[in-house]
Amino acid sequence: MVGAGTMGNGIAHVFAQNGFNVTLIDISQEQLTKAIETISKNLDRQVAKGTITEDVKKNTLSNINTNTDLASGVRQSQLVIEAATENSELKQSLFRNIDESAPADCILATNTSSISITKIAAATKRPAMVIGMHFMNPVPVMKLIEIINGYATKKEVTEAISTLSKQLGKVPCVVNDYPGFIANRILMPMINEAIYSLYEGVAGVEEIDTIMKLGMAHPMGPLQLADFIGLDVCLSILQVLYNGLGNTKYAPCPLLVNMVTAGNLGVKSGVGFYTYPQDKKALMVSERFK
Ligand code: CAA
Repeated sequence: MVGAGTMGNGIAHVFAQNGFNVTLIDISQEQLTKAIETISKNLDRQVAKGTITEDVKKNTLSNINTNTDLASGVRQSQLVIEAATENSELKQSLFRNIDESAPADCILATNTSSISITKIAAATKRPAMVIGMHFMNPVPVMKLIEIINGYATKKEVTEAISTLSKQLGKVPCVVNDYPGFIANRILMPMINEAIYSLYEGVAGVEEIDTIMKLGMAHPMGPLQLADFIGLDVCLSILQVLYNGLGNTKYAPCPLLVNMVTAGNLGVKSGVGFYTYPQDKKALMVSERFK
C-alpha cells in the first residue's frame, strides 16, 4: 500500500482485517505512525460496536508492516495499491519506480479519484497489468469499489481485482477510463450545483443540505460531503471533468474557487461550509454563511 493518508490507512485496514499481509509505505515515518494510530482507533470503534473482537483487532494490526522505502516495500508484492496525493506527475513517477521494483506478475492499482488510468499505466512497462481501484471514504464503512479499466488493462486483471474486492466484503463495479469515471462524474456536478445554489442565494447551507438529506435520503448533504471530501479535491476533480469533457456544465462554481484560494478546505482545514472545532461539537455553519 503506497501512501498512508486517509485513504491509504483505510485501504490497509480493510485488507489486513480480511487476513492479507500489508506493507504500508510512505516517505514520512511520522505519517506511518499516525496511520497506525488511526487504524487502531477505527478498530477500537468496531470493537466497541461489537462488530469485531479484540482478537480480530490484534490480528489486523499484526498483519500490517510499515516501510519508508518504496523499492524494498514492493519487492515481494502480489498487488500494489497507490493512494498518494492526487497529482498526475507524482503518480506517473511513483508508478515508474514501482514498476522497476515490483515482481513482473504483480498487479499495479491506483486509488485515484479522477486521474487517467491510461496515463498512469503509460509510465510503466506493464500497462496491461495496471488498473483503477477507487475506494470510497470512510473505506472500512463504504461498500463500493469502483474498478476502472485503463485502455490497455487485460481482462484477467479486471477479473482478479473484482474477485479480490468481493473477498474484502466490498461490491466491485467495473467502468471505463473517461474523466471522473462514474462516481465523480455524477457526484461532483451535484456538489457543484449545491455550491451554485448557495452562491446565487437560492437557499442557505443548512436548507440545501437538509433538503438533500431528508428529501433524497443522503447520509450527508452535498455541502457537508464537499467539506468531508475536501474542497480542494472537489475543485481539482471538477477541473478534470471540465478540461477532459470540454463542457461548460462542469465549470467549477466561482465560490468554490474562492474558498479553496482562501484555504477554507473543509474538515481538514477546520472550516469550509461548516466549522470543525477540535472539541467536535454539533455541526455548525461557518460564520461566512450565517
Ligand atoms: N472506520 C470504521 N468505522 C467507521 C469509520 C471509520 N473510519 N467512520 C465511521 N464508522 C462507522 C461507525 O462506527 C458507525 O458504525 P455502526 O453503523 O456500526 O454504528 C457507522 O460507521 C456510522 O458512523 P457514525 O455513527 O459515526 O456517523 P454517521 O452515521 O453520521 O455516518 C458516515 C458517518 C458513514 C461518514 C456517513 O455520514 C456517510 O455515509 N456519509 C457519506 C459518505 C460518502 O458519501 N462517502 C463517499 C465520499 S466520495 C469519495 O470517497 C470518493 C471520491 O473520489 C471523492
